[in-house]
Amino acid sequence: MPQYNHILLTGGAGFIGSNFVRFVRAHRPDTHVTNLDALTYAGNLENLSDLEGDDGYRFVKGDIRDADVLRELLSDDNPIPGVDAVVHMAAESHVDRSILDSQPFITTNVQGTQTLLDAVRHANDGRDTPIRFVHVSTDEVYGSLPLDEPNEKFAESTPLAPNSPYAASKASSDMLVRAAHHTFGMDTLITRCSNNFGPYQFPEKVIPLFVTNLIEGKKVPLYGDGLNVRDWLHVDDHCEAVLAVLEKGRSGEVYNIGGNNERSNLDLTHTILQLMGHGDEMIEYVTDRPGHDRRYAIDAGKLERDLGWQPTRSAWPDALAATIDWYKSNGDWWQRVRSGAYRDYYSKQYAGRSVH
Ligand code: NAD
Ligand code: TYD
Repeated sequence: MPQYNHILLTGGAGFIGSNFVRFVRAHRPDTHVTNLDALTYAGNLENLSDLEGDDGYRFVKGDIRDADVLRELLSDDNPIPGVDAVVHMAAESHVDRSILDSQPFITTNVQGTQTLLDAVRHANDGRDTPIRFVHVSTDEVYGSLPLDEPNEKFAESTPLAPNSPYAASKASSDMLVRAAHHTFGMDTLITRCSNNFGPYQFPEKVIPLFVTNLIEGKKVPLYGDGLNVRDWLHVDDHCEAVLAVLEKGRSGEVYNIGGNNERSNLDLTHTILQLMGHGDEMIEYVTDRPGHDRRYAIDAGKLERDLGWQPTRSAWPDALAATIDWYKSNGDWWQRVRSGAYRDYYSKQYAGRSVH
């Protein structure tokens, strides 16, 4: 099984990316990680403050839409070995934001992915072994399942039917990655994961939003009838699956990643309320999200059969309880996110010094 010398990770200052940096540094100490992140509203270097001083990790502020930055990073052998793998997580990731303004979803998720693919293809010229490219996508590209057919799940062969601008932009990026493999023989793989939870998730997504609201004594806004179903996976299980796909996946393949952990939003909300000692009076039913997908459910059997991966950290409700405890113990982190103060961190830490 190949272990990579140097992963270029895009979007590593976000929720999953920052957990992935920590996961790789802990489990593959010989693998260097360069984190390329534009630090949008969702990028927060405080997510990685514990890795400062780690020689195997470096941060580069830059945009995946900037071909010059990509060229420089992919051709750079100093002071660490050249990049031999790209894990692409940078994206605009929130469905509600894509409904309000889809433009950044198109420029980052679609154009940015193609710019990155082009840069990797050019960097492959003259190499004996091409750079391996793992594209981190989402189950939302498959669209929505009905509630009345509980045995139906998304397989890798399920036709794509994205319903939100976010999902459509991710489906587009998946198609560009597929085309890069078929047309140019690039060594690409695609993962499609269900909803993640865990530490450092931006408190606009449902679990950290509800937990931090309750800590502050505020109600939780439940969309529509609350019966929409999501399959919840702990972020460290996702990180482990992405690493397995990078190291053991078959070139050109798609791998679904899921937790076998379907919950309706109402059920999720009741569990959070119970774990935090609140009652139903803290639920505020609000207008539904336009086009709200009813149910996501993942069949991750291929990943289990072919690569031997299974979720081990997502047990319910214990993993949810541990996540709630993390937000309770890390009030400084999310309060600085909510107030916007986290944006000062980059300028304080990196002002006047080169980051690559
Ligand atoms: P996030 O919004 O927390 O983080 C995204 C990161 O990308 C941020 O650090 C942001 O600064 C960076 N970024 C955005 N635009 C960029 C650009 N143009 N150039 C460079 N960096 C840029 O997202 P997340 O929840 O960590 O999701 C990471 C990836 O996983 C995304 O591709 C998402 O589609 C996918 N995914 C997420 C989930 C989930 O439940 N969160 C589930 C399945 C798949
Ligand atoms: P979210 O965390 O935004 O993830 P996604 O839309 O990618 O699945 O939402 C998860 C579910 O929670 C989704 O069905 C919408 C619902 N939801 C609410 O009911 N209230 C909220 O305030 C939010 C943000 C989401």
